[in-house]
Amino acid sequence: MDYILISSPLQGFTDFRFRNTFHAVMGGIDTYYAPYIRLDGKKEMKKQTQRDLQPVNNQTPKLIPQVLTNNASDFIWVAQQMQQLGYSELNWNLGCPYPMVSKRGMGAGLLNNPAQIDRVLQQVFAESDTKISVKMRLGLESKFEIFEVLPVLNKYPLQNITIHPRIGKQLYKGEVDLAIFEKCIGLTPHTICYNGDINSVDTFREHANRFPGIKHWLIGRGLIADPFLPQMIKNNTLQYPENKLEQFRKFHDILFSEYEQALSGSGHLLHKMSALWEYFARLFPNTPKAFKMIKKANNIKAYNEAVGAIMANK
Ligand SMILES: Cc1cc2nc3c(=O)[nH]c(=O)nc-3n(C[C@H](O)[C@H](O)[C@H](O)COP(=O)(O)O)c2cc1C
Repeated sequence: MDYILISSPLQGFTDFRFRNTFHAVMGGIDTYYAPYIRLDGKKEMKKQTQRDLQPVNNQTPKLIPQVLTNNASDFIWVAQQMQQLGYSELNWNLGCPYPMVSKRGMGAGLLNNPAQIDRVLQQVFAESDTKISVKMRLGLESKFEIFEVLPVLNKYPLQNITIHPRIGKQLYKGEVDLAIFEKCIGLTPHTICYNGDINSVDTFREHANRFPGIKHWLIGRGLIADPFLPQMIKNNTLQYPENKLEQFRKFHDILFSEYEQALSGSGHLLHKMSALWEYFARLFPNTPKAFKMIKKANNIKAYNEAVGAIMANK
């Protein structure tokens, strides 16, 4: 089967610099979701969000913006802004699990309120012609909440529904519930996309064998922890490319120089790179202390030395 691989949005990681670099150097991703847009009480987008979505800043083939809201008016306003920038689809975040968000009835905090989901979608579809897709968890507090939400989603002509089969309360801990995911597939005519814990080609293959009808797969953290994963899935191979180290070095170096230009001061730059290395470190099992070495580097020279040492030990 021809799989569609989608970069799952990671606020703080998959900004336009990351997406462009990933596309240029690593590849294998068909569609990128941008991290969520959230309005803070006003019909106004943060400068950083605006920059992230400006078409001139984006060189990936297909980019879909996402909104995090619980009200139709903000949703419609964001949809209009996105249409003006040339985006025809907006993804609705019904999965963000963080209490700061869910306690305000947004993200996963809406999953126990199907009536509100219905109201929002009804107004959005009445007042906007943007295509809508949904990214959701199984529920906020119970994995059965989704059974009340799907009938509501089934009333609307959505592009697709991504399911991350955890509940909000779990955050990112515990197992994904594949049995409930499987049940959901049979409960909706919508295209279902799978998302959660795809960290290796083997895991992808297991899931793809278990769910032969699923064509769309979102990869979030796995794409940073192993940037080769999408191309290896696409090439149907367990083998890393021969120039693995060279390719990773290029990916790293472009990211470094992009963030060096964008961020003010070496502290911010080191912080940014360190956050990436918390994931990258897993690519270097010969250096179990890789992340510690990066974290310890308190200036650019030390950082470069740490990166050099990690890569030399491959
Ligand atoms: C740091 C971080 C930021 C995230 N930001 C977003 C976001 O902006 N929008 C969203 O829908 N999901 C967000 N997610 C969830 C991921 O897109 C994804 O659904 C989740 O990590 C599970 O997939 P994975 O196991 O492939 O990472 C975020 C997750 C993490 C860890």
